[in-house]
Amino acid sequence: MGLHRTTPPMDVVVRPMRPDDVPVAERLFAHTLVELEGSLATLDSPAPRLRSPQRARLWVQRTLRFVEDDPAGCWVAEENHSMTGFATSFRRESTWFLASYAVASDRQGRGIGKALLEAALTHSRGCLRGMLSASVDPRAARRYKAAGFDLHPQMTLSGPLDLSQAPEISHVRGGTSGDQEWMDSLDRSARGAAHGRDHEFLRETHHLQVLDRSSGRGYVYTDEAGQVAVLAASSRRTATRLLWYTFLSCPTPETTLSHVTAANQWAVDVGMAAGLSLSTRGYLGLRGLKPPTPYLHHGALL
Ligand SMILES: CC(C)(COP(=O)(O)OP(=O)(O)OC[C@H]1O[C@@H](n2cnc3c(N)ncnc32)[C@H](O)[C@@H]1OP(=O)(O)O)[C@@H](O)C(=O)NCCC(=O)NCCS
Repeated sequence: MGLHRTTPPMDVVVRPMRPDDVPVAERLFAHTLVELEGSLATLDSPAPRLRSPQRARLWVQRTLRFVEDDPAGCWVAEENHSMTGFATSFRRESTWFLASYAVASDRQGRGIGKALLEAALTHSRGCLRGMLSASVDPRAARRYKAAGFDLHPQMTLSGPLDLSQAPEISHVRGGTSGDQEWMDSLDRSARGAAHGRDHEFLRETHHLQVLDRSSGRGYVYTDEAGQVAVLAASSRRTATRLLWYTFLSCPTPETTLSHVTAANQWAVDVGMAAGLSLSTRGYLGLRGLKPPTPYLHHGALL
């Protein structure tokens, strides 16, 4: 694993990410996203804000694990010893996942992102499949398409929850490490690879609820706001029940459901029945994979 030099710009060095780079990368990513949001804002959009310290800590915690477990997938671009971009990626079984990717706003569009993605993609050699969740940035879409990813638009449903049409949901219980084997099998059916040790991380940082019946199995992780982080099920019926369960147990009157592809119309049906508004946002990028269903992916752990 050496250094990659870009042409152009010649003064950029792309080198492996180190643990002490991670907090710097977090700030770079947070600021880059705020600037991307700002560039897309309309007059009635709320002013974009940096993410909460809690979300920033979670990002650092997750990224440190990638640097430790998948050092060949994590790269930094430097100009004059200062970080101007990074890409983090990891492999599970024979699928490669891009977790995070950004170039500082004032350095974008000069080939730094291309060099970083090429470095991260060296970690995908031998992988049959690839998966990433793309932002709305047309530069990102261009890079992913050039790297052979098909782009599937993602929908978001958000707004105040109307639970008047919610069915009664029973048999959902808290999940444990004892459920992981069948959860890994659901992951393999949906995306060709188990989450494996990422389930440990998700269990530590999210709430896990499962439905494990002879009629169907499924799991859902929700974050501190009660929003879905990952949902997988053996049938649309079970996925539908789990999604209603998360809406019924949501701690806030409003919610957001992200990362819904066209292959997951069951989730659009539930979101609309719960009164949420539909919009589109970014893409699911796939190589060697059909859009997973019934499955709602995580933005970084996919
Ligand atoms: C996505 C990102 C990492 C790419 O890095 P970058 O250094 O800008 O990328 P590059 O300069 O190597 O490539 C950008 C491509 O988009 C093109 N491009 C530049 N400006 C563009 C614009 N305004 N609209 C469309 N395409 C544009 C460039 O010509 C280039 O394509 P080419 O190589 O075929 O000529 C960076 O732009 C970024 O951080 N964006 C904001 C955060 C983000 O969206 N991250 C991705 C999360 S999935």
